[in-house]
Amino acid sequence: MSRIEEALEKAAKMRGTEGKAVKGPGAPLAFPQAPLHVYQHPLPNERLKVKNPLLVSITAPQTSVAEEYRKLKSLLVKITTADRFRNTLMVTSALAGEGKSITAINLAVSLAQEFDHTVLLVDADLRKPSIHKYFGFEPKLGLADCLARGADVGDALVKTGIGKLSILPYGKKSESPGELFSSSKMKNLMAEIKGRYPDRYVIVDTPPVLLFAETRTISTLMDGVVFVVKERAADLKDVNNALAALEKNSLLGIVYNEAVNESHNGHYHDYYQHKQYAW
Ligand SMILES: Nc1ncnc2c1ncn2[C@@H]1O[C@H](COP(=O)(O)OP(=O)(O)OP(=O)(O)O)[C@@H](O)[C@H]1O
Ligand SMILES: [Mg+2]
Repeated sequence: MSRIEEALEKAAKMRGTEGKAVKGPGAPLAFPQAPLHVYQHPLPNERLKVKNPLLVSITAPQTSVAEEYRKLKSLLVKITTADRFRNTLMVTSALAGEGKSITAINLAVSLAQEFDHTVLLVDADLRKPSIHKYFGFEPKLGLADCLARGADVGDALVKTGIGKLSILPYGKKSESPGELFSSSKMKNLMAEIKGRYPDRYVIVDTPPVLLFAETRTISTLMDGVVFVVKERAADLKDVNNALAALEKNSLLGIVYNEAVNESHNGHYHDYYQHKQYAW
């Protein structure tokens, strides 16, 4: 059994779904028609001009890679609406640079493109905030300001103009980011966000589990975890340790990122063209 198969088996055991493959696409999500809170935001109310090619769901929606993210979205919708609606989802990984932010963004965009309802993408990677960089804007306010100075979440939101996708960027870097998240402030803020968006998806990008303790704290506040494993990055021990550190039963699935696929003629495609996932 390969190391990734072992990791997947462990993940399946943790959520009690061994042997049960989840096959997409999921049924359309029926959103209740709750009134939507209209926020102020610091950018002009126009579509952000996104150029980064890694944001395929925006820049190249017709490609097979973007289709993979749509499949991921469909599977997640199916899982998160199976019994109750689990709307607050975090994306994490064992180590740095495994593709958390790219996955969180493309997932959030895919959700926003399918449903005519707000999707909120939160940058909770206080060590290396990157959502604003990938989208190409400079945030004036963000999560750190809400936590450290009590800034209003509504004032910090940035509308992208891409479906109804809004971003809560990280904001100004804090001197002691770990403390911000370990305090009850983050708990209260997540409760506030969940209260504002009870019927909409909130996708939270986080730091790697094994490097920073706050990721574990955040996982206790979430309905579900999407775990990214980059091929040839974390080994099985890292994956196991990271999964064990996360809130029990919160794991929704594993995204196997940057996998090498062998083509028909035996050569390898460019590895970054392929992304696979397993649930
Ligand atoms: N699916 C992908 N296809 C191509 N490149 C990718 C993919 N996922 C990640 N990368 C590469 O890895 C880099 C890091 O990705 P990303 O920022 O999503 O990782 P991260 O896990 O959020 O990193 P950090 O731990 O630093 O926050 C990207 O800038 C890109 O170069
Ligand atoms: Mg990141």
